[in-house]
Amino acid sequence: MQIYLQQCAKCHGPTGEGISAAVTIAGPNLWAEDDPGRVMTALEVGPSHMPRFEYILSVSQMHAVSDYVAHTIAQIHLNGGDLSRGGELFRGNCAACHRTAVRGGGLVFVGTNAPSLTGKSAALIAGAIRWGPGPMPRFPPSVLSDHQVASIVDYIRYVQQPASPGGSALNWYGPVAEGFVAWVGVLLMIGIVMWIEKGGKG
Ligand code: HEC
Ligand code: HEC
Repeated sequence: MQIYLQQCAKCHGPTGEGISAAVTIAGPNLWAEDDPGRVMTALEVGPSHMPRFEYILSVSQMHAVSDYVAHTIAQIHLNGGDLSRGGELFRGNCAACHRTAVRGGGLVFVGTNAPSLTGKSAALIAGAIRWGPGPMPRFPPSVLSDHQVASIVDYIRYVQQPASPGGSALNWYGPVAEGFVAWVGVLLMIGIVMWIEKGGKG
């Protein structure tokens, strides 16, 4: 508690609500960070512009503050989401700003681009939904239930790591690029067939 207020509150807010400001210290909402192990990792790694705490706090202090975040600050528990409901909810509530592909949100909105959601942890996504950083609206429990939040998070995480049937994964560039890749493939095949035919005759 004490350590949290001294070391973390200036970026994440006194109750982990997150700070929205165009300042470099802005840290996200922590309300879904219910896994002390993940908090420990964040302390060791220092994601984005968060400092690493390895040399600032002792190991037992890092454990203490991780437990505080996971058990006292975190209030959203993500379990039992429904993937297809999540897709519908995402298209209805998020896609206008973050785009359907989840990747590379681009729409210019009140001067701020909605960021790509790639690589965001489930807990960060859930926190952002409840919190509404910057120009993003907040979605309180009266609008989206915990189960609906869990479904959206499942959907986003699923779209980011699509199951790739058969062999090595083609890097996920979204439908347009994939269509293009398919066309290149078709042209290449025609080319090869023509080349083989030529070779057969000559
Ligand atoms: C200088 C500002 C700053 C301070 C101080 C800070 N953080 Fe952060 N923290 C951030 C930023 C920025 C991110 C977002 C990284 C991202 O978007 O991937 C973050 C992310 C996190 C995450 C999310 C990890 C994930 O991927 O789900 C946790 C947990 C966290 N911080 C806990 C803490 C704790 C506990 C402390 C205090 C010991 C602390 N932070 C201090 C700025 C800060
Ligand atoms: C009106 C446009 C708008 C809508 C609707 C919207 N967002 Fe956002 N979102 C934003 C903007 C803009 C930001 C960047 C805020 C900032 O950087 O201060 C953001 C930030 C985020 C972040 C934080 C990324 C980070 O770096 O920590 C996540 C996660 C997120 N949105 C998820 C969602 C989800 C899920 C939904 C649907 C439930 C949604 N958003 C709906 C505009 C929107």
